[in-house]
Amino acid sequence: MASARPKNSRDWVQRHLSDPYVKRAQVDGFRSRSVYKLTEIHAKEKLVKPGMTVVDLGSAPGGWSQWGVKEVGATGKFVAIDLLEMEPIAGVHFIQADFSESAGLNAVIEAIGGENAKVDLVISDMAPNLTGVVITDQARLFTLGELAMEFAVKFLKPNGVFLVKVFQGVGFEPYVKTLRANFKHVAAKKPDASRSESRETYLMARDLKIP
Ligand SMILES: C[S@@+](CC[C@H](N)C(=O)[O-])C[C@H]1O[C@@H](n2cnc3c(N)ncnc32)[C@H](O)[C@@H]1O
Repeated sequence: MASARPKNSRDWVQRHLSDPYVKRAQVDGFRSRSVYKLTEIHAKEKLVKPGMTVVDLGSAPGGWSQWGVKEVGATGKFVAIDLLEMEPIAGVHFIQADFSESAGLNAVIEAIGGENAKVDLVISDMAPNLTGVVITDQARLFTLGELAMEFAVKFLKPNGVFLVKVFQGVGFEPYVKTLRANFKHVAAKKPDASRSESRETYLMARDLKIP
């Protein structure tokens, strides 16, 4: 995450343990507190409906997938990819691969039904391992963001939705500009579950300009 880490690891552990979203995730049986960022945005934007096809980029440990697969239900399709292993979730077609490599991308395309398939929602919470060098971290994050956007533009239905995690700072404005060139509606979202000291923001783009 892009939040400033407290000076020592004990402070970090303390903050994690006292975080209300961490506690809530444990009670609700979710694998990550990240799930509440998605559910909060969904509460206002109605992102997921039964029967939808959803692609979850950067899905591990699986909070978004756990919640999303229930929302799409038995008639929907839920495809997830991550570099890391993810404990299986019933109904989720999980691919362990690098989305920035053609093998990873091709596996996702195959899972959604091929080159001509169309999906309803692409959600990307992908984040690189942070180096602490802001300019490097920004560049890596936006590279992932661009790949996710390219995928969304190619595979979304005309009225589909793309939700992507980005960091405020270098690269943010040009990324928003490209999103606006491709989608009719673009909005920034900062859910309460996203730590206030974090530069993390979610961009939601709806309705392709050239379907
Ligand atoms: C913040 S976590 C996602 C949390 C997830 N949304 C949840 O609810 O549990 C970001 C994930 O992005 C993944 N990631 C980063 N780069 C990736 C890439 N090139 N391909 C696939 N996954 C990637 C990381 O491995 C990490 O698991």
